[in-house]
Amino acid sequence: MPLPNAQVTVRAPAKVNLLLEVGPRRDDGFHDLVTVFQALSLYEEVTAAPAAEFSVTVEGVDGTDVADVPLDGTNLALRAARLLAERGGVDEAVALHVRKGVPVAGGMAGGSADAAAALVACDALWGLHAGLDALAELGAELGSDVPFGLHGRTAVGTGRGTRLAPVLTDATFSWVLVPGARGLSTPAVYAECDRLRAAGQVPAPTAQAGDESRLRAVEAALRSGDPAQLGAALANDLQAPACSLAPELAGTLAAGCAAGALAGVVSGSGPTVALLAASAAEAERIAGELAAELPGGARVRTATGPVPGARVLEAVAVPGHRRDGGGR
Ligand code: C5P
Repeated sequence: MPLPNAQVTVRAPAKVNLLLEVGPRRDDGFHDLVTVFQALSLYEEVTAAPAAEFSVTVEGVDGTDVADVPLDGTNLALRAARLLAERGGVDEAVALHVRKGVPVAGGMAGGSADAAAALVACDALWGLHAGLDALAELGAELGSDVPFGLHGRTAVGTGRGTRLAPVLTDATFSWVLVPGARGLSTPAVYAECDRLRAAGQVPAPTAQAGDESRLRAVEAALRSGDPAQLGAALANDLQAPACSLAPELAGTLAAGCAAGALAGVVSGSGPTVALLAASAAEAERIAGELAAELPGGARVRTATGPVPGARVLEAVAVPGHRRDGGGR
């Protein structure tokens, strides 16, 4: 069957965790979470085009450093394309090009956004029409944050973080993102969390204790739309472990608050620090101040959230083929 599209470009967002409650380590090595994701306006773009063999190329945009992104079979966009081909019974390969605007190994799910974008791009390229739920199920095999990259906006995540329930909020929040000087490995941060808990240096897990007070506080703040209320409710159980592995993060959080942020939190497993601002203008002002002040300040970014999940930006039809939309 001829392909409906000659080339498809999809954009998928970064995320920040407004709340990240980490339960005890499970037998499969993962931790049960109660988390609130928000998709932010920092994006990955993936372009897929038919090719004789699977391949991936990567380019950094807005100064994003891509030196640490693997180009071999472990690349998440490539794994996503191969998985969809296998499960979709597609006997075609694709060349993928990734334009990265999300800090690499930064705790903002940039790799997961690549996987989400590659799934949507290949679905459209191959005319599979798999649907969001089926793509999210495949995405969960690739990484805990991939289903959220597909859905976007604001959502409560449970289980490994792959079971999602949307949170409705009318408000738009303004963020300043400060990437770390070096990446942090997600498994290393979870392991440090377990170690600090076993040593009694941080409180025991709360996520399974039936205490939903932190979740209720974030949900109430989202309903109110008041950034100060949301700032007071931000919480991340991985912040202490991330700061234990990268002590300079405490200084970044303090610098953000001194510059006028309402609150700051380590994003996911870090090391990106997410600072909540009172308005978009305030975010720009704080970002300018931190860019001048912090080492590596040139990498400070602003973003707003929530934004939608993975979306087709452009689908170039095969000449003469009647196309029935972008695949979703
Ligand atoms: O699923 P993802 O690839 O993001 O997970 C990377 C690692 O982070 C896992 O191998 C595990 O060590 C840790 N993790 C966890 N519990 C989760 C999600 C991730 O322990 N819910």
